[in-house]
Amino acid sequence: MSITFVPTPPVPPLDASVDHAIQAIVAGASTDETCATDLAVGPWDFDTRPGYGPGSSMGDVIPTGAPRQGELPREYREAGEDELDERIRAAKETLGDRVVVLGHFYQREEVVRHADYVGDSFQLATAAKGRTDAEAIVFCGVHFMAETADLLSGPDQAVVLPNLAAGCSMADMADIDQVEDCWEQLAEVLGDLDAQDADGRVPVIPVTYMNSSAAIKGFVGRHGGIVCTSSNAETVLEWAFERGRRVLFFPDQHLGRNTARAMGVPLERMPMWNPRRALGGSTAAELEDSRVILWHGFCSVHRRFTVAQIDQARAEHPGVRVIVHPECPMEVVDAADEAGSTDYIRRAIAAVEEPTTFAVGTEINLVRRLAAQFPQHEIFCLDPVVCPCSTMYRIHPGYLAWVLEELVAGRTPNRISVSDDVAAPARVALERMLATKPRVAASAR
Ligand code: 13P
Ligand code: SF4
Repeated sequence: MSITFVPTPPVPPLDASVDHAIQAIVAGASTDETCATDLAVGPWDFDTRPGYGPGSSMGDVIPTGAPRQGELPREYREAGEDELDERIRAAKETLGDRVVVLGHFYQREEVVRHADYVGDSFQLATAAKGRTDAEAIVFCGVHFMAETADLLSGPDQAVVLPNLAAGCSMADMADIDQVEDCWEQLAEVLGDLDAQDADGRVPVIPVTYMNSSAAIKGFVGRHGGIVCTSSNAETVLEWAFERGRRVLFFPDQHLGRNTARAMGVPLERMPMWNPRRALGGSTAAELEDSRVILWHGFCSVHRRFTVAQIDQARAEHPGVRVIVHPECPMEVVDAADEAGSTDYIRRAIAAVEEPTTFAVGTEINLVRRLAAQFPQHEIFCLDPVVCPCSTMYRIHPGYLAWVLEELVAGRTPNRISVSDDVAAPARVALERMLATKPRVAASAR
């Protein structure tokens, strides 16, 4: 009897594209689920309407005056993936060192593949600072990141955000007027906010997460405060506690709570400040007794992760290692094996050689890219629904092709520049953070 040898077909490489996954779901070629089928159409369909677009949560309210994107020219709206890819490559080649393209970890694959640097928000802002030869910095991320790059780059460098509608719903939850108002109310309860006690500490130090507007960073700089990122929040809080009896932390309540609790601050000494309520919804006694006042902000992407998802991952994948971002709710961080910033998650996975199963609680574009980059591991997103960050997703390759071709033509579209009166104190707040601890650099591709 002769045996016929049937060769096993080669395993195709994992497709990191969230866009392809969503298209397949909408076309009925995949049984997966997405949070918004509208994600499959071009983001330009939403440019003329105020709002964060498909995929955003009910809790996200776009502030009046948020920047709006004008209509993207038709040729970019109608071009296919391959054509846009080619046009982006050609424009980048023409521009050479005059332009640097930065891609946040949460950007779609079709954009990230053109980035000169890929990293977290702070790594990218410092990468921009190092490229003094570049006349234009095209920041494929969200608005607060482009502002930070403008704060840290040279005065003659233009920072360009390919789609002005790419804001951050969490950053928008702390509006400068609300923060000024909160400060005034705190002064009524806590007394002179500049008065030092016998230990040289003032009543409250404002600390803002990097995910906040330049106006908020400026506020913090003017009031003796500091910026933090998700990877240095504990060091920054230590800095603040040396100088103040309590901290006002914004905009992300979860990062504030998770960090302060890990440092031993009891939950009852962390009242919430809801800007829509008098005294933020707390009593004067609660504010007086507080160690950390948490602003009522959250990330609608990280709020989707639940303890039930972790339980399910553990039941279906014995031995799974669960890593989540500290923007997740406290119960989720507690149920996970570890929590860390986007760069922490990337490095934690890259450091493991043994085939391992990872369940990750962060934005789907980063998770899919890690799965494709490390095929020896099984890496999946804790949230079974394909739901990218709706604002990061506004940067479609059509906008990247458009801004690059505009730069080739000698025009600078979508320039993000922070006014001098805000920039000076905002830089002070950033410099204070830089002085607390060095950071890992973004990786050049
Ligand atoms: P990074 O600061 O790690 O880039 O994260 C930004 C962000 O938006 C997380 O949701
Ligand atoms: Fe903002 Fe959340 Fe999107 Fe990060 S993932 S940019 S915090 S909305």
